[in-house]
Order: sequence, then structure tokens, then C-alpha cells
Amino acid sequence: MKPKKIGILTAGGDCPGLNAAIRGVGKTAIVKYGMEVIGISSGFLGLIDNDTFPLEENMLSGILTDGGTILGTSREKPFKKSKRYKIDKPNMIKETYKKLGLDCVVCIGGNGTMKTAAKMVTEGLNVIGIPKTIDNDVWGTDQTFGFDSALWIATEAIDRLHSTANSHKRIMVIEIMGHHAGWLALYTGMAGGGDVILLPELDYDMDVVNNYLLERARNKKPYSIVVVAEGIEKPNKDQSAASYIAEQIESGTGIETRKTILGYIQRGGSPSPMDRILATRFGAYAVDLIAHEDYGKMVIKKGEKIKDIYLSDVGSKLRLVPQDHKLIKKGRGLDICFGSK
Ligand code: F6P
Repeated sequence: MKPKKIGILTAGGDCPGLNAAIRGVGKTAIVKYGMEVIGISSGFLGLIDNDTFPLEENMLSGILTDGGTILGTSREKPFKKSKRYKIDKPNMIKETYKKLGLDCVVCIGGNGTMKTAAKMVTEGLNVIGIPKTIDNDVWGTDQTFGFDSALWIATEAIDRLHSTANSHKRIMVIEIMGHHAGWLALYTGMAGGGDVILLPELDYDMDVVNNYLLERARNKKPYSIVVVAEGIEKPNKDQSAASYIAEQIESGTGIETRKTILGYIQRGGSPSPMDRILATRFGAYAVDLIAHEDYGKMVIKKGEKIKDIYLSDVGSKLRLVPQDHKLIKKGRGLDICFGSK
């Protein structure tokens, strides 16, 4: 049988571990199965424009520890109708796929990417999805790669805030990424010893937060750390979550308050050892699926096992923090404030 030819792309916001996943896919495909691998540049843009190149095995050496993605990425959504460009992007993708003679495309990305991947399947293409994102909000998998690295970065940042907060007897508000899901803020808040943790999934009341912080001050706790997810509810959409909360705290308590927005630092740099391993396992498993012609699937982690589910089942579903998550319950028992009584 003719060896398979596969394409690989990374789409959506980048995160640590993308290169580890590309290497996992590429090496398994070339070394274990003798497949031919094509790198697709800048996410789905590369598929639309046929911006592709042969990915040789030597190009995969030395990238395991590198941040970013050697393929580049973009937030291009080819199935989203746009008034400005009337070109038929789904058709262009199909043409590129045919022109290159691909047997399958591996799409590494978050929720948006999995949605696009599922649409490509309905267009008749063979696709395998690999979930990544620091937000950890892809439905169907216990974990995405990128999350663990971001958790380390954000926790270290909070660790550093403790000493400066203590020196000045201030309240420090730190904003963590996560528009819809508060996984990163929750885990970072717990790991970094946050006193208040505010998540998009939980309603909060500023009176509860301010009374809690005043009570800490009355109990001679010299400073407080407030961890907020960027996607929390706030009156003005243009104001950052940290700015809004810091303003509300300072005016409501009279205690000097400062804010830190961690931003893209959370997405940059070398992946953690756990993310390198998870991305490698995801990549290798994806190619095993291709070898068995078991297409239309997304690779997942369930417990300690790597498994797969249908991309069509993932759809547009998001994996959010449940209100009764065990870490929230444990946190409340430790007198951490989640914004409500
Ligand atoms: O990678 C996910 C994420 O970090 C979100 O938490 C964040 O809101 C978003 O990406 C911002 O990314 P960009 O500016 O690249 O669209």
C-alpha cells in the first residue's frame, strides 16, 4: 500500500507545547509509519492559500523544548461568512487538500479549531484534531496541553507578588487569561495562595469581596492577593478585569490596591515537562489513528489514558468550571473568597 501523506497545522492562539505536538506527529508519522508529512503555514490560511512545505524529519529535531510553533498560527475561520471577502474558502481548502494528495490533516488547536475541523469532516475530508490551549476549556478532554505551562508561569508571577504586597501592605489584583473559562485562574489562584479568586463562571458581589478584604485587614493580615480571570462580568467591556476590580476594591475598602495584567507572558516560552509529554502522547496517538484510517476524531486525555472522541461530538461545546468544582469547595473550606457567601 502507498505510504500515507498527511498535513499538519496549528491554529488559534499559540501556547507552549505546539512544537512538541508537531514533533510527536511528525516523528511518529515518518519513523514508525514511513508517512510523508506536509507542514501547513499559519493555520487554516495555509490550507486556503496552499502555503505549505515538506516537513522533513531533521526539521523536527531540537524543537521539543521551543515555545511557539514552527508552522505559525492564525485565527482564520474558513467557514465563517465574511461580507468583505466573497471567496469560497471551504472549496479552496478542498482544492489544496486534493492538489497535495493528502490522506488526512492533523489540526492542532482549541475550541474554534475543533469546530472548523468538524466542518471539514462534513465536507468529506479526513481530519484528526489535537486539543491545545492554556485555557483548558476544550470539551471532551480532561486536559489540553499548554495549560500546565501557563499554570507554572502564572503561579510564579503570584509568588513574586506576595513579597512586594507584604512590603507595602497592599492589595494586589492579578488578571489571568480566560475569557469564558476560569480554569487557569482557579488553579493559579489555589497554587499561588490567592485570597480572593473570581471566575467567569461564578457570580460575585463587590460588597462580599470588600468586606472579606477588610476582615483580613482587621485580623492583622498585612496584604491580600486577588486573582481575577479576564472574562469576569463587569459593567464596561473595554476596561480590563483587573482595573475594574482594583478600582472597586480601593474605593470600597480604602486600602491601597495595585493591579498586574499578566497577558501574553502566559502563552510564551518553553513548555513544562508535563506539557511536553502530553503533547508528544497526543501527537503519537493522532498518527496511530491515521494509520488505522480512524478519521474524524479528536484525541483526548481521560484519567491517565489517551483516547479519542468524534469531532462531531465536540461541536461548539465549551468545558467550563462547574460551580461545585472540588477545588472551589476545598477553597471555601480554607476561607478563600470566590466572590459570594
Ligand atoms: O489562548 C487563549 C487565550 O489566551 C484567551 O485566554 C485569550 O483571551 C485569548 O487567547 C487572546 O488571544 P489573542 O489576542 O491572540 O486573540
